[in-house]
Formats: sequence, structure tokens, C-alpha cells
Amino acid sequence: MTTTPVRIAVLTSGGDAPGMNAAIRAVTLIARAAGAEVYGVERGYKGLIDGAFVPLAPNDVQGILREGGTILGTARCKEFLERAVRDRARAQLAERGVSGLVVIGGNGSLTGALALGDPEEGGDATPRIVGIPASIDNDIGLTGLCIGVDTAMNTIVEATDKIADTATAHDRTFIVEVMGRDCGYLAMTSAIASGADLALFPEANRPESEVFDQIVDTVLAVRGRHRRHRRAIIIKAEGVQIPVERLKTEVDARLRAKLGAEDSTSIETRVTVLGHVVRGGRPSAFDRLLGSRLANVAVRALLAGKTQRMAAWMPPIELPEEIGSRSSFDPYCWLVDLAAVLTETDNLLHGRSQLARWRAGVFEDIEDALLL
Ligand code: F6P
Repeated sequence: MTTTPVRIAVLTSGGDAPGMNAAIRAVTLIARAAGAEVYGVERGYKGLIDGAFVPLAPNDVQGILREGGTILGTARCKEFLERAVRDRARAQLAERGVSGLVVIGGNGSLTGALALGDPEEGGDATPRIVGIPASIDNDIGLTGLCIGVDTAMNTIVEATDKIADTATAHDRTFIVEVMGRDCGYLAMTSAIASGADLALFPEANRPESEVFDQIVDTVLAVRGRHRRHRRAIIIKAEGVQIPVERLKTEVDARLRAKLGAEDSTSIETRVTVLGHVVRGGRPSAFDRLLGSRLANVAVRALLAGKTQRMAAWMPPIELPEEIGSRSSFDPYCWLVDLAAVLTETDNLLHGRSQLARWRAGVFEDIEDALLL
């Protein structure tokens, strides 16, 4: 008697993140080694709705580990908020006999995954789903890190080091804006790692005029330093809702008022918006490792019949059982409840989670000593 192999599919959704390819590769190789057939879905949920499935074999994923972006393509798919669209997606999976889906993506993608895998909505056609957190913003709850964060941080530090050369040579002030949507994690961590003088992040929730004062105070303070350290590097998270040009105009005007006209050329601030540069590039060794290890846990969970979970990266701590359990074969990998992840993500983004408080606390603790 021949048995039909289990079929699983994998897709990447939302903003791409370096390390997504490592996860796609590991999903393919680990599931194939376990005897499952694997399909890639192109362009995230958009491709799922349209039935854009491609078979994935070991040859298809050779060498992709070191590539940025995602070989499957990705998209943001607003239509997926509609139940009828999700029904279409479930039908596409059922038609191909795909019983399990790995969703690699951020907040929006995992929200879509929870709805897609809801048995009350999907009935018998409901696929099993396990998510893998991938977002350079590091804004997902119940995981210490998402795929892509480490590479993005390295990119910011490398760019800031270069900017610091010019800043130091000219005794200038630079405002460097980094991605992160509503989350200040990248700004905080890269400010520490690049030896910046100030970090501006949305979690601090400061009124505009205070932000201007912070920058002005920083610039005035660095002017008292030794000759080679009179530059100011300010890392600003994009989530701080003051356009950089306005920030520059306001700060320059305040500095002119304080320092007088003769100093105005040397104090004029420069602005660099790193934008999508932060999201691209070859994944760091750590992101390759993280993508591979989280994929390992996700595939094994799917093949063991689990659903509505996310593979997560956390130290070997204790968690209440209803929230998640530590993987038996990888002490840093967890399998956590997907609904709990989304609740915690919301808490994280609104400063209500323990993790958000820890992050801000660690940063505040360190900033007095290490920044300016
Ligand atoms: O979520 C990742 C991210 O790069 C954010 O940091 C940024 O705000 C957003 O995506 C940009 O999205 P898009 O590439 O669709 O403009």
C-alpha cells in the first residue's frame, strides 16, 4: 500500500528581511528529509490567493542561504483581511492537498496566519499553520529576536561608522534616521553599538519641543569635548513622528540663537535617511542561524500536527504552559501560541509589555554612561 506524502507549503509575506532565504532553505531541506513534499508560494498571501505554487526541492534552495530578500517574493496584502479572500486561499491549499503552511513574516503576516488557520472560520478546509517571525523592526511579541534584525543592525552600524568619519572631520552634527516603523529597537541598539551621542525613539513619547532641546543640548555638550570628538551623531527612529527636515530646521534655528551667526556654518546639521538600505543585503551569520533554527522547530511542529503556533527565539526561561513550550531539541527555540504572540505584539507596540519596559529600562540605564 502506498501512502501519499504529507505536503507543506511555505511563504514569505510583508516586508522582506535578510535571513528569510535561510528559513525557506531549512524548511525545504528539513521537511524533505522527513519525507514531506514542499511547495513555495510566490508573493506571499497574494500568490496564495492566485494559486502561485512552485515545488521546492533541495536543488532549488542551493546557495540561497547567503542571499538577502526572499527567493519567493513577498507582498503586503490588504485583501487578506476579508474572509472571502481567506476562503479562496484555503481552497487553493486544499486543492493541492497541502495540509500545513509555514508563514514567514511580521505582525500583519502573522495576523493573517491566525485568521487563515482558524478552524471556526475554515472548517474542514483549515490548514495547520506555524509562523516564523521575520521583521527588521523586532516588533513581534514573545520572541527575543526576529529574522533580519541582526543584519539590519549591522548595516546601520556600518553606515553610521562611515558618517562618523565625516562628522568627526568637520565637527558636524548628523541626524541618521533608521527604519523600525513604530518600534525603536533598531535605533536604541544601533546607537549603543555605533557609539552615537543620542537616540530618539517613539517609546520615549517625548513632545516635539523636548526632542529639539535634547538635540541642542547634545550638540552644545559635544562642543566642550576634546578636538577629535566634537561631532554629534544622533540616531532617530522613523517612528518618531517629526520629519527630519523639520527637525534640522528647528535645531539649526535654536543653535543659531544660542551660538550666534559666526558659528552658524559649523553647527549646521546634516541629515541621512538610511531608509530601505537597512532592509537589504546579505544576511549576517546570526540571521542565517536564526532562520535555520526557527525553521527547524516550525517544520517539526507542523509535521507533529501542531497548528496556530509561532517558532520563537528566547533564552531557556520558564513560561506558563498555555503560552508556549520550549523545543525539546533546541533550548533557545520555543513554540508559542500565535494568538498570545499577537496580543503581546500589541502590548509591545503600546509600551504595555514587560519586554517593552525592559528594553526601555536597559537603554535608559546604559544611555547615561555610554552615549554622550
Ligand atoms: O516592517 C519593515 C519595514 O521596513 C519598516 O521598518 C518600514 O516602516 C516599512 O517596512 C516600510 O515598508 P515598505 O517597504 O512597504 O515601504
